[in-house]
Amino acid sequence: MKIIDPVKSFVKNNSGCAVVFQELNIDFCCGGDVSLQNACEEKGLNAAGIYQRLMELKSSSSEEKDVSGLTPGELTAHIVSTHHVYLKQALPRLTTLMEKVYQAHSSRHPELKPLQAVFENLRAELEPHLLKEERVLFPLIVKLERDALGVQMQASAGPIRVMRHEHDEAGKLLQEMRTLANDYVAPADGCQSYQLLYEELRKLEEDTHLHIHKENNILFPAIDQKKEVSTAP
Ligand SMILES: [Fe+2]
Ligand SMILES: [Fe+2]
Repeated sequence: MKIIDPVKSFVKNNSGCAVVFQELNIDFCCGGDVSLQNACEEKGLNAAGIYQRLMELKSSSSEEKDVSGLTPGELTAHIVSTHHVYLKQALPRLTTLMEKVYQAHSSRHPELKPLQAVFENLRAELEPHLLKEERVLFPLIVKLERDALGVQMQASAGPIRVMRHEHDEAGKLLQEMRTLANDYVAPADGCQSYQLLYEELRKLEEDTHLHIHKENNILFPAIDQKKEVSTAP
C-alpha cells in the first residue's frame, strides 16, 4: 500500500483501518476514492504519521470479519446477518432514546431538535433501503452468481446505481448528525441517557460506514467485474 492509494483500498486490504479512519473522521465508504495523502491534508492531519500507523496495524486486527475471500452471494448473506440485523434493532431503539433525551434537554440544547429530525430522515431512508437490497438486489446477485447469465447481469446495473445514490444520501445525513452533535461529545450537563445516545449514534455511524464500504467498494465492483467478463466478445 502507498500513501497515494485511495482511502477505501486501505480498508479493503485490512478492515482494521476502518477503526482508525472512523476515529479521524475520514470518509472511507462514499468518499473513499480520495488518496490517503489528500484525505489527511484536507483534515490538517500528518499524512506520513497516519500512513505509518496504518501500516503497523496487524492484518484484520479488529473483531471485524475478513470478508475478502467471500463470493458476492456469501457477502450479501454476511451483510444481512450483521449490518442489516444491527440496523433493524438499533434504529427503533435510537428513536425512543432520542425522544427521551429531547424531552429532558431540548430547552437548554436546541440542537437536539434538528438532530432528531436528521436522524428520523436517516431512518426513513435506511429502512426501505435495507428492504430493497434484501428483496430485489441481493437475491438477484445470488441468482447471477448461480446462473452466470450475461443478460441477467445487466439487470443489476440499475438497482446498484440506485443503492449507491442512497448510500451517498445516508453518508451526508450521518455527517450532518455528527456536526449537530458536536462530534458526539455530550455536553457537561448531559445525563446518562444523553451520553448513551451519543455513544449509540457514534456506533450507528461506525457500523453504517463499514456496511456501505462493503457494498460500494467490495460487493458492487465484484458484480461489475462479472458483468464485464460475461459480456466480453
Ligand atoms: Fe446493506
Ligand atoms: Fe446499502
